[in-house]
Amino acid sequence: MKTLIHNIGQLLTLNPAADGLGESIGMAVLIQDERIVWIGETQEVDSGRADVVIDARGGLVTPGLIDSHTHAIFAGNRANEFEMRLQGKSYLEIAASGGGILKTVEATRQASAEELYALTRKRLLRMLSYGVTTVEVKSGYGLDFETERKCLRVLRQLQSDLPMTIVPTYMGAHDIPPEFKGRTDDYVDLLCQEYIPAVAAEGLAVFCDVFCEQGYFDVAQSRRILEAARQHGLHLKVHAEEFCELGGAELAGELRATSADHLLHIGEKGIAALRAGGAVATLLPGTAFYLRLEQYAPASALIAAGVPVALATDFNPGSCAIDNLQLIMSLACLQMNMTLSDVLKGVTRHAAKAVGLEADRGYLAVGSRADLVLWDALDYQELLYYVGRNPVRGVVVSGTYFSREQLEAQSLSETTP
Ligand code: NIG
Ligand code: FE
Repeated sequence: MKTLIHNIGQLLTLNPAADGLGESIGMAVLIQDERIVWIGETQEVDSGRADVVIDARGGLVTPGLIDSHTHAIFAGNRANEFEMRLQGKSYLEIAASGGGILKTVEATRQASAEELYALTRKRLLRMLSYGVTTVEVKSGYGLDFETERKCLRVLRQLQSDLPMTIVPTYMGAHDIPPEFKGRTDDYVDLLCQEYIPAVAAEGLAVFCDVFCEQGYFDVAQSRRILEAARQHGLHLKVHAEEFCELGGAELAGELRATSADHLLHIGEKGIAALRAGGAVATLLPGTAFYLRLEQYAPASALIAAGVPVALATDFNPGSCAIDNLQLIMSLACLQMNMTLSDVLKGVTRHAAKAVGLEADRGYLAVGSRADLVLWDALDYQELLYYVGRNPVRGVVVSGTYFSREQLEAQSLSETTP
């Protein structure tokens, strides 16, 4: 099956082989099945060559966006905590007083696989309507093995039912399960000896992630978990330096993790370690915004040091109930002083590297995956100029075109809220 997109006003390929953002005007793209087979000028095109012809109407076309850090599989919500924070309570205070991750763990343990499937499907369809064609999703709201496996199996089912790519991450080390309160080391033993091997053996995850944070997993415990994960063939991610500087970024660099994420409190040593270890720094400005923290991650220092910076939502029911990656891009510009060019790389090329898929996505070229966004904008400067608007006209995901209306209607027709 051949699909042609023509009348592209501005095309951004984000091809690492091209200069800048790989921009050109008056372009067309020919797709065969899941791949791009030709890129050239619209006037060279013979539209008779295609089964499906899409008119970009002079608009901007970019690679599909990649959200490389989400916690999108969970049940229930914590809207009450939003109100508590408005009344002055901090995230860590709320967690210590019976709210936080463990509240969502309770709801997720009680939910059936069918409920989790419906909830997550709706969330992912909404993300697709914002232009996200590849999404990483972490488990971590079950903590006990059965619930974690239930969530990861639901993700596998969603991967086979939805057109977008779902990258599954096992995050059994998201919090200490209530039944292990005060016995974190015993839980770490169990993770290393039983849970990680079982998850890897069933092929349920590509990555393993750990919340390396005061009150959660310290550096020594995080190291044990990540080393066990690597031994079992999982790639590594670390939630590092989110609320204080603990040394998670140094650990990520030393263990050659694929990415270190959050990094609000990263210092010079951490930056040097990420650079030396070849890790991507995944920044999540939505979390600082949502929790009204004073500090954002030092994007400019990371970029100046040559660390690839990815941007992601961190979508989760507690610290960042934002599922719109475009809003995160706006925050990256407005709150972290990132340039449009760095922001666009952060949700394409660098995000692809953060999920280990940089070989064939995050950029457009002959042979790359046919994941693209058609925007209701003439050029990339207009994209983030209007804040809080969804200018997606349609997406091509794995070679198939969906209009935004189609995706929104589908997401809204799902029964769960
Ligand atoms: O990335 N840091 C750990 N996990 C989430 C918060 C999850 C929650 O509050 O439910 C985060 O911020
Ligand atoms: Fe997170």
